[in-house]
Amino acid sequence: MSTPICDFVQDYCRSVTFRLHMPGHKGRGELGCEALDITEVPGADDLACPEGVILASEENTTELFGSRHTFYAAGGSSQCVKAMLHLAYLFRPEGAGNRILAARNAHKSFLHGCALLGLEPVWLRPEFPSPLCSCPVSPGALDLALDAGERPFAVYITSPDYLGGVQDIPALAEACHRHGLPLLVDNAHGAYLKFLERSRHPLDLGADLCCDSAHKTLSALTGAAYLHVARDAMAAYEAEARRSLAAFGSSSPSYLILQSLDLCADRLDKDYPALIQETARRVAALARELGIDPPLGDPLKLAIPAADFGCTGFELASCLRGWRAVAEYADADWLVLMFSPLLGSDACNIVRRALPQRRPSPRRPLSLPAPGEKVLSPREALLARRVSLPVSECVGRVCADAAVSCPPAIPVAVCGERITPEAARLMEALGIRELSVVYGA
Ligand SMILES: Cc1ncc(COP(=O)(O)O)c(C=O)c1O
Repeated sequence: MSTPICDFVQDYCRSVTFRLHMPGHKGRGELGCEALDITEVPGADDLACPEGVILASEENTTELFGSRHTFYAAGGSSQCVKAMLHLAYLFRPEGAGNRILAARNAHKSFLHGCALLGLEPVWLRPEFPSPLCSCPVSPGALDLALDAGERPFAVYITSPDYLGGVQDIPALAEACHRHGLPLLVDNAHGAYLKFLERSRHPLDLGADLCCDSAHKTLSALTGAAYLHVARDAMAAYEAEARRSLAAFGSSSPSYLILQSLDLCADRLDKDYPALIQETARRVAALARELGIDPPLGDPLKLAIPAADFGCTGFELASCLRGWRAVAEYADADWLVLMFSPLLGSDACNIVRRALPQRRPSPRRPLSLPAPGEKVLSPREALLARRVSLPVSECVGRVCADAAVSCPPAIPVAVCGERITPEAARLMEALGIRELSVVYGA
């Protein structure tokens, strides 16, 4: 596959000595990557309205994903989530207001988007106690929610979640489409799902709009992301997507990130999908050896229940640290490891050696408490005067943080909700010490 952005930058580096333009490092510096860090010089194209090398590279990626169009972003899925909300609201169906049905395990960028755009999330919560980070939504529950109350303008889910759990996207998409609504999927953790033997990417399962952090599971640099408009989605999304992305991103997107997206497409066009599939088989074999369920929905992620080893996720993480290996995520109940072809087979071997013997012990994993009373909208809460208090003093106060989470994917409370005693207890158990609450509320 061609690499038009990288080719341009290489040529630029060879042919220009004096950069009498931004950025201020002038292509020289101690990091080592400065020469490649260019800006919108003639020929470099412009991510905000691309007609040259950036558009050509996006078209390569569009072909790989089979989307209507795949847009590059340098502000991560955080930027793309907000752009998806903007697009879905701009082209909302007749009779819909500003409500959006959303699974409660949404990343805080969703709350920021709601606050900025004045949107009202209506939470879909798990029907059964489920681990923190997860929020399985059944098609039946979605149907009921869609029939209740004022018409929403879209449905929003996170799949895969932090523990590798995936939603039943085909059934949820079917329910949305029956109601004339788009399904928006935060697929930040699942860019690679397209390249499994059989694609499990949300675009192929019925999502209308979907974002992927290319930096989380592919080889792109941190910040690199895709906003995909599905082939069967509304054409207007494609026409407006760049303006939506621009509303939430920098006007100077990083060319280092754009080059990494360009190279990533080339790699995916070559043998990388086969390497992803081989790694998935290796991880499944490791899971079987460890006596845990093979990760089906998100096969490059291993969520290890720490109780199976008679300890906490933190303790398992420190076993790995002794082998110079660092986990993606650990809490009292879980250790989460993310694999990639770039680690080679050694990574699985290190995990085999580092983890202790299985010693299953009973433990009831933490789950989310019932939600607190909704007092303010996300917008009102995020724009309110606030004060930081110890968690123990926050019971009864209104949360002003987008999502109180530790680590990043557990929204124990979201902005505008009253903090309940159960939520405060869970926050303390998760090591959260202070909270930003609405002043005086
Ligand atoms: C589920 C989910 N969505 C969105 C994001 C934001 O992604 P990014 O870091 O690419 O902005 C994250 C980041 O951790 C995430 O876990």
